[in-house]
Amino acid sequence: MSTRTAQARIAIAPLRTTRLLLRPFQPGDLEQLQRIVEHPSVRAFSPVEPRALAAAARAQGGRKQRQTAHYEFAVVVHRTGQVAGSCELVLGPGKSGEIGYLLGRRHWGYGYGTETARALAAFGFEALGLRQIHATVSLDNSRSRRVLQKAGFSWDALLRRAGRSAGPALDAERYIRVRDTPDRGACPKRTTRR
Ligand SMILES: CC(C)(COP(=O)(O)OP(=O)(O)OC[C@H]1O[C@@H](n2cnc3c(N)ncnc32)[C@H](O)[C@@H]1OP(=O)(O)O)[C@@H](O)C(=O)NCCC(=O)NCCS
Repeated sequence: MSTRTAQARIAIAPLRTTRLLLRPFQPGDLEQLQRIVEHPSVRAFSPVEPRALAAAARAQGGRKQRQTAHYEFAVVVHRTGQVAGSCELVLGPGKSGEIGYLLGRRHWGYGYGTETARALAAFGFEALGLRQIHATVSLDNSRSRRVLQKAGFSWDALLRRAGRSAGPALDAERYIRVRDTPDRGACPKRTTRR
């Protein structure tokens, strides 16, 4: 099997965690994702045009995900089958990648963000053979910073005017995890919110 074919197969394979299924978008996901992204608390820390919306729109039109540089996933809660958000891993130069994620406001505080970041990191390192993975976080996004720390990422750089959310470009921080860095232990299995 060629590398390209192998990557295409990886792109459509769901990732399973204890409580979540990260799977390619399907017809029917778009409306749920639009509702999630419209919430002001989510919009404040999300790109102006999240790539996940475009991926969900393509799935809505019956098109399968075939790209090999962008891996876009719906984040689904096993127990309910509900789409809780989206996440992505975008390949960069030199066996690097960048992750991103967003969850609907009502799904915050259960550890799903951390579970998602860990799953993306494992996918990048183990399935795609990446050497390092980055994430960019707005300076005022303490919750996401905490997610990255718990998922084994460390502070790497201050990025001036790099924030990707709506409004003026804000300063951001880049976090990095290199291969074989352990994360911060088992995922919390909270059922109550913090
Ligand atoms: C970032 C996001 C995915 C986090 O999801 P989540 O499921 O709530 O995250 P988790 O529950 O795994 O972890 C959140 C952590 O932040 C902590 N936290 C919550 N509010 C906080 C605050 N104001 N300051 C610092 N830490 C905070 C929580 O206590 C928890 O840490 P703990 O387990 O050590 O107690 C979610 O808030 C989101 O989708 N936000 C909008 C989009 C976004 O910011 N995407 C990331 C862009 S880089």
